[in-house]
Amino acid sequence: APGSPALTPPMGWNSWNSFGCDINEGMIRQATDAIVSSGMRDAGYQYVVVDDCWYEPQRDGAGNLRASASRFPSGMKALGDHIHARGLKFGIYMAPTDRTCAQRVGTYPGSTGSGGREAQDARTFASWGVDYLKYDWCNPWGTRDEQVARFTAMRDALRATGRPIVYSINPNSLHAITGDKYDWGQVADLWRTTEDLLDIWQNGNVNSYPMGVGNVVDVTAPLAAQAGPGHWNDPDMLVVGRPGLTLAESRSHFALWSLMAAPLMAGNDIRTMSGDVSAILRNPGLIAVNQDRLGAGGRRVRDDGNTEVFAKPLSDGSVAVGLFNRGGGSATISTTAAQVGLSGSSFTLTDLWTGGATGSSGTISATVPAHGVAAFRVSGGSPVAATTARLRGTGSGRC
Ligand code: GLA
Repeated sequence: APGSPALTPPMGWNSWNSFGCDINEGMIRQATDAIVSSGMRDAGYQYVVVDDCWYEPQRDGAGNLRASASRFPSGMKALGDHIHARGLKFGIYMAPTDRTCAQRVGTYPGSTGSGGREAQDARTFASWGVDYLKYDWCNPWGTRDEQVARFTAMRDALRATGRPIVYSINPNSLHAITGDKYDWGQVADLWRTTEDLLDIWQNGNVNSYPMGVGNVVDVTAPLAAQAGPGHWNDPDMLVVGRPGLTLAESRSHFALWSLMAAPLMAGNDIRTMSGDVSAILRNPGLIAVNQDRLGAGGRRVRDDGNTEVFAKPLSDGSVAVGLFNRGGGSATISTTAAQVGLSGSSFTLTDLWTGGATGSSGTISATVPAHGVAAFRVSGGSPVAATTARLRGTGSGRC
């Protein structure tokens, strides 16, 4: 939204994908500390977002939201202080109607939504030091006009606090009633484009539920033009490192989210993650592509069914390119400089996974294993010696 603090896609960690409602202040503090000790903070991860189920099922006598007394006994201000003391930022979850999503499905009691109490709740969040609000529409399903009114009311309430708070909304826009696509760029800083992403590669057709990596890519890729500084498509939090994906699939998922200029909100248990998973989340080449200040969303410039090419223009005039193999066998995927938006015949390729130069040629091509993504930065205009080698991206064997 105009005046957004999110000039690049937000990066952080969120409790939902690994813990659901089973959260407490001890484990949020441990996750916070793990962002620092793992090197994720230094790689750019900033926001620690406490998702659904942090609150008491009833507001206090003055109608204020309050932390669950049993699971967050120190309160949310103290938790925010812990997060801020480590150089990180504090995110929280609420809903624009009467119920959060967990309250709608009945896994959590009460009815604490912010509908009609936007100003009061925004002041509460600001007083706790909240820097990021995830605002999740679940109950009842509303029309687009109702959604625009409610989401705008909280946008204005957050602004009125004077505190910069990233505003992340979920309009559940694939739902039959909430309807079709809407560009939320005037209202929110990021908005969900899909149903919840689970740790699966692909589930049937595009709108199947639950959604896997491929389903989410199919819904979000056509929306690329909506992305830019302060207004981001949100194809949901990362499932990198979750048990249902292979390491290769986690690498592909991370590369695609980087290319789509998606928020990078880790959702795995970062306290216990392996070195391989940590390395994916901290990959400097892909994070630089994701955080590029131009903020362009990667477009799918070529779709041959099981193989696809993504291109994301970067602020220095180069282009990040992903060669995506959705299929079950390895495939050679090729594109040209012209197809990814570069003019001229001389350019250099840098493998985004390894940071290594891979050569130059008139063709961008790699043999990509099943469920893999080869990813390159392609820079034009700088002639390179030894232009004869046929390109075989070194990234292709790794993902
Ligand atoms: C919805 C959202 C999830 C999560 C849950 C919490 O399903 O899409 O990301 O916030 O609600 O109940």
